[in-house]
Amino acid sequence: MCESAFVVTCAKKERVEPQKFKNNNGLIILVNLKLCYTFTAMNNPIIISIVNQKGGVGKTTTSINLASYLSEKKHKTLLIDLDPQANATSGVGLDKKKIKKTIYDVLIRQTPITECLYPTVFNHLNLIPSSKDLSGAEIELVDVVSRETCLINSLEKIKKYYDIIIIDCPPSIGLLTVNALVASTHTLIPLQCEYFALEGIANLLKTVQLIQENLNENLQLLGILLTMFDKRTVLNKHIIKNAKEFFGDLIFETIIPRNIKLTEAPSHGLPISLYNPNSSGATAYFNLTKEVLQRVKQ
Ligand SMILES: Nc1ncnc2c1ncn2[C@@H]1O[C@H](COP(=O)(O)OP(=O)(O)O)[C@@H](O)[C@H]1O
Ligand SMILES: [Mg+2]
Repeated sequence: MCESAFVVTCAKKERVEPQKFKNNNGLIILVNLKLCYTFTAMNNPIIISIVNQKGGVGKTTTSINLASYLSEKKHKTLLIDLDPQANATSGVGLDKKKIKKTIYDVLIRQTPITECLYPTVFNHLNLIPSSKDLSGAEIELVDVVSRETCLINSLEKIKKYYDIIIIDCPPSIGLLTVNALVASTHTLIPLQCEYFALEGIANLLKTVQLIQENLNENLQLLGILLTMFDKRTVLNKHIIKNAKEFFGDLIFETIIPRNIKLTEAPSHGLPISLYNPNSSGATAYFNLTKEVLQRVKQ
């Protein structure tokens, strides 16, 4: 049996019933969940880890919405939730209580990664979920041989089914984030428009450089994304000016505004493109997706 047939068989075994989601206009969206791949992607996938050791800067929001717009553009996309808080998992509509196997099982229990793929509300988007157990993985990984390469090794089996893989990282630079960076072709750093935004970024860039020098010479810094911009405050405008002076072209042209719809969408288990496609947050993530695709093609 060829490997793609094997994966699809696994998916059928764990059948998921159609689910209902309600969007911002009260419209019920009925989704018949199924895994997306029946054929193989052409090249090695682009793998982008969304990294910042600070919490609450927009990593998960960016992961969910970038992954969903990529899949809307028919790129076969995999979202990996690598944060024990599992917000990306619930943010694309999966019920955490119903999930049996997660990225923790892949990294610590050597469960085949094919058993941890889940369908989402989008035909072209699959998810490897996370759970609370993952918080122990930072410590459990310390004693594992090749502890920095567990993720890249397990991705080997399924890489060929996807065009793009997005990894939502936890708010720390521990072994989980290192695993993500070692597995990635690119990293995207969300930076919240606030007074202390630049604090800590030097450390993060140093880590990226160390990974490039020692563990993954192919890792590229895709860009820095300014998030939660509030055009009414002068301080926010100063921060953008400073960040652009400091980082130049590394800053994405797209700036993500502070938008209440982006805050509401995850509680409905929907990415912004389904929850409120006309909001300023949706437009911004749509534009970011175009920019990301342009940058990775360069
Ligand atoms: N652009 C935005 N506008 C408004 N709220 C946002 C925006 N981006 C993120 N949020 C909200 O801020 C909180 C933190 O964002 P999140 O993406 O979870 O950050 P992180 O993953 O870095 O911890 C969440 O409640 C999220 O819904
Ligand atoms: Mg998060």
